[in-house]
Amino acid sequence: MGGENGSEKPGAIDVAELLLTADIYNRTESLIEDDLPPNIRKHYFDVQTKSVKRPIYVTGTDAQKIFGIENAKAAIKDLTFVAFEEFGSQLRLTVFDVAARWFANQKELDRIKSNPTLAYFYENFDSLDVSYAQARSSNKPLSADREWIDAKIKELCADSKEADDLLKLAYIKAPEDVRDRLTGLILTDDQKSEVEKMSKALNNRQYLHEIGLYEIGKLLFVGPPGTGKTSTARALSNYFSLPIVEVRLSMITSQYLGETSKNIDKVFELAKRLSPCILFIDEFDFVAKTRTSDEHGAMKRAVNSLLKAIDEISLVEHGVLLLAATNHPQLLDYAAWRRFDKVLNFPLPDKEMRRKILDKVLARIDADVDTQALAEETEGYSGSDLRLVVREAVLNALLEDRRHLNQEDLDRSIEEFRRRIFDYKRSVAT
Ligand SMILES: Nc1ncnc2c1ncn2[C@@H]1O[C@H](COP(=O)(O)OP(=O)(O)OP(=O)(O)O)[C@@H](O)[C@H]1O
Ligand SMILES: [Mg+2]
Repeated sequence: MGGENGSEKPGAIDVAELLLTADIYNRTESLIEDDLPPNIRKHYFDVQTKSVKRPIYVTGTDAQKIFGIENAKAAIKDLTFVAFEEFGSQLRLTVFDVAARWFANQKELDRIKSNPTLAYFYENFDSLDVSYAQARSSNKPLSADREWIDAKIKELCADSKEADDLLKLAYIKAPEDVRDRLTGLILTDDQKSEVEKMSKALNNRQYLHEIGLYEIGKLLFVGPPGTGKTSTARALSNYFSLPIVEVRLSMITSQYLGETSKNIDKVFELAKRLSPCILFIDEFDFVAKTRTSDEHGAMKRAVNSLLKAIDEISLVEHGVLLLAATNHPQLLDYAAWRRFDKVLNFPLPDKEMRRKILDKVLARIDADVDTQALAEETEGYSGSDLRLVVREAVLNALLEDRRHLNQEDLDRSIEEFRRRIFDYKRSVAT
């Protein structure tokens, strides 16, 4: 950080970025919230209008909050093009051109590349190698901000009681709040290609609409327990920068929540308003169980409302990507199956995948092990089983005050795991 002569105070570059961004945003009508970097956007977000209102005024406190600068006044001391007005503590640029040139000379190209508003201006400035389009496509959009999502929930609910009820039916997370990452998962080729197709569909909704292709964007994840169905759905939220609405089926059909059908409609309505977003229905087989166990009851009506709601929502029209997951596909009847236009398999990992999963899980652990050999020994293990095996090995080593794992630790852990499964199967059989 710092300038060519290294004399700038800490935070000077931050304040300059903020002032330039505010200036360019204020006078360029065509720039929208998606053109602001999330840290600046979140700070100036107005809940009432769900927007960043023009003009953006910058105060010393703003700079301190956004960048964690201790003293904004001290930070700008050497910046000749910034004026500090004691009254109202507002900061502003005195000569825009001088400020713009100073910033360009700071060799902070990455800042410009990750700030579409700056990139918009600097694209045609001297010989700076930046592209507005590129900056924009790598910038998180407004709809990925937790602040925006919260404002949307508020808008949909009359009061906080209603909002609380809604949040009992669905977990709603901003991409930034999701912990799962696609990079942490080993996917099959089939899964990878489906992820790319979803991505294309999301980015070409208008085109799909024009050609009348609507049978897209409803996927059912099917596979044995622990094969990454839930993790993948969540990870996609972060990967696509889309909010995820996770329906809690057990709550939707809970009779304590008043009118279930109305509740279901509300969750789907919320998804439409958050669009583009992911609507994820985990443990989808719950639907099947309630259909068979409670032939005439309220549950059955609830499930029928759910299936109807699924029918009526669309990626192309509403921007809602619908994902559901189950490890009991045999329980689903045709009425449930036909709602989905794609079934994506989550098989137990083969030897090659098991090795990759083990490598991934062990990546941050000091371990001297042959994952190839371990993969051979773990036929039939799911990704989740493999994680548990490593977990046990880590804990057992810690019992001996070791933070280093060797082959023996993992072999022992696999042995224990095998015995546990054996015991479990025997207990189920009797
Ligand atoms: N292919 C994989 N690569 C890496 N990790 C995996 C893989 N499959 C599963 N895991 C890990 O196993 C754990 C459990 O996975 P997850 O909960 O997504 O499984 P699931 O398919 O939803 O299971 P269930 O059907 O029981 O709900 C997660 O921590 C996940 O990271
Ligand atoms: Mg799951």
